[in-house]
Amino acid sequence: MIKKCLFPAAGYGTRFLPATKAMPKEMLPILTKPLIQYGVEEAMSAGCSIMAIITGRGKRAITDHFDISYELEHQIKNTKKESLLDGIREIIDKCTFTYTRQNEMRGLGDAIYKGKALVGEKYPFAVLLADDLCINENGDGVLTQMIKLYKRYKCSIIATMEVDHQDIHKYGIIEGIELENGIYRVSNMIEKPKNSETSSNLAVIGRYILTPDIFSNIKDTKPDTNREIQLTDALCKMSKKDRVIAYKFQGKRFDCGSIDGFVEATNYLYKKDIV
Ligand code: UTP
Repeated sequence: MIKKCLFPAAGYGTRFLPATKAMPKEMLPILTKPLIQYGVEEAMSAGCSIMAIITGRGKRAITDHFDISYELEHQIKNTKKESLLDGIREIIDKCTFTYTRQNEMRGLGDAIYKGKALVGEKYPFAVLLADDLCINENGDGVLTQMIKLYKRYKCSIIATMEVDHQDIHKYGIIEGIELENGIYRVSNMIEKPKNSETSSNLAVIGRYILTPDIFSNIKDTKPDTNREIQLTDALCKMSKKDRVIAYKFQGKRFDCGSIDGFVEATNYLYKKDIV
């Protein structure tokens, strides 16, 4: 039932300046593939076929990447290099790409709200932040794990991981009651809390399954002091009314929005020869 995956990709990627001055952060490559292609592959293997991308100014390279390049393909036809495009050709053949722009950077909540026109309000959908690169060598990808969980719980699901307590100020943190091993019912969410504000170390990462009522919750969420609408605040609101599940995913996550995480992911995939 979950066929659509939303990719908020409108952020400026300021941590990678000047590389991201004229190039989208999502197009930075880990070895030979841009970050967003890893994300699309994860969504595709979870059964999604409609990729809805929230872009902004200067992000045209994303649209071009998921389109045929006749001139290039003609150039390398019948050479050894032709097979290098097999993966992206398969994606283009099997998936439909839709786009809309977030004109102003008003936060992740606002970016997702912009996606309403693309994903509609009838069915649940997946959300994937491409700068969180997730790899599970031993089994299902993270979105596949979450869609399986959705089938059991039929509610919004947030992927989480445990972080060191001294790092909780960098994340959205979830408080909740453990229902079964690694699965929690969310009771509260706090965006980038101080150490003294919570005893939880369950941090939100960039994978979600959202039910369409997220849109009314975002609409009811006030912008923070930076004029950004936080998805965390909208999900927190939702968790007070309905069941929202936090899930400790299986696998590894690299924060490729940071230089350290990006280098770590590059080294990891290079050593493992996973491309
Ligand atoms: P980040 O917090 O990493 O922000 O956004 P950013 O602008 O991409 O990067 P820095 O911090 O300036 O280096 C997390 C995700 O949410 C998307 C981003 O594209 C990224 O995938 N996002 C964030 C939006 O689409 N719109 C927004 O207004 C904010």
